[in-house]
Amino acid sequence: MGESGDWRAWRREFPIFEHTIYLNACSLGPLARRVRAAAVRFLDLWGAHGASAWYEVWLGEIQALRAAVARLIGAKPSEIAILPSVTDALRVVASATADRRRPAIISADLDFPTVPYQWLSRPGAEVRFARSADGTTVSLDAYRACLDDRASLVATSHVFFLSGRIQNVPVLAALAHEHGAYLLVDAYQGLGQVPFDAPSSGVDFLISGGLKWLLGGPGIVYLYVREALHERLDPQGSGWFAHGDPFAFHAEAFAHAPDARRFEGGTPAVAAVFTGRAGLDIVNEIGPARLRARQVELVTDLVAKLRARGWSPRVPEDLADHAGIVTVPMEDPRAAVAFLKERSIVTDSRPGLLRISPYFFNEPADHDAVVDALDTYRRGAGAAATGR
Ligand SMILES: Cc1ncc(COP(=O)(O)O)c(C=O)c1O
Repeated sequence: MGESGDWRAWRREFPIFEHTIYLNACSLGPLARRVRAAAVRFLDLWGAHGASAWYEVWLGEIQALRAAVARLIGAKPSEIAILPSVTDALRVVASATADRRRPAIISADLDFPTVPYQWLSRPGAEVRFARSADGTTVSLDAYRACLDDRASLVATSHVFFLSGRIQNVPVLAALAHEHGAYLLVDAYQGLGQVPFDAPSSGVDFLISGGLKWLLGGPGIVYLYVREALHERLDPQGSGWFAHGDPFAFHAEAFAHAPDARRFEGGTPAVAAVFTGRAGLDIVNEIGPARLRARQVELVTDLVAKLRARGWSPRVPEDLADHAGIVTVPMEDPRAAVAFLKERSIVTDSRPGLLRISPYFFNEPADHDAVVDALDTYRRGAGAAATGR
């Protein structure tokens, strides 16, 4: 089967395309048949075995998930902690890195808000913002201007959720370390669509999860912690899954696990462990390099078609540091999203922007459909259809 045949076969793995043109992976990756099958397998094991499913299958499944995450980012399974949300991962890192002599945390104004909120909600933390000059990128100088010897952590994005721009993580890691700060990267919008090697990047903490490009659905997040930090950092407010020997049940003696498990909490959501791994298996099977090449092809096609119809997508000429999130400035993007939805085309919006995010299962015909529908919308059918 040729390359395009392969992609068509992958598209058939996602039943939503039988009735919908889905262009919204950056909000929620669509459900794959094998991810649904993994959820059913979890239920079947629970139904057939009850508690013994834990010891016989589920604990092994958690380990297999760590291995799948590690494979994706060139790390070791012992460097991966499993948590339910980005916010939970941030909370545990915040507890482990808090330093009264270094209260400053640096984020970017383009980061997903839950990142700075983690420290804005902590009395005593001093949050500084590296600001974007153009609404799509943040310069290294903007981060540099925020750094001094009061900074403990730079916590920012791999790919900006509003612009699709990819940040240079190795350069950010070097900058943070030069000032004695750690680097935490929120890669929820990056992993899957952008290849990433965690150990060689210098990043200290990397967070991603199933929801979007890793196709595993909600409730499952992966925290990479660089091995050299494990013994140095003691998260606070830990639970039994962070203990070195949870099944020893020593209520009076807490001792952190020697590896990244020390960043975990309590019983994980095992259904999401199953779906998370099934999603990651798809990403690992295709491989990040092929996925990235496919993204560049798709974004190039989408941008050309939008421009040909007079829209001005916010992407640079050179797509080398741009991922699969294409935003188009328009007056009332929510009305456009609703108009497209009525035509079974799923996109989403952020203030002032229509956001279109193709992934490997999309094809150029999807882009023809979206630009055709946007033409109709602009000609006024949109106003009528939405009752304005
Ligand atoms: C970049 C980024 N980080 C984090 C989140 C969500 O964080 P949480 O898992 O805490 O809901 C999102 C969106 O859902 C996101 O786009």
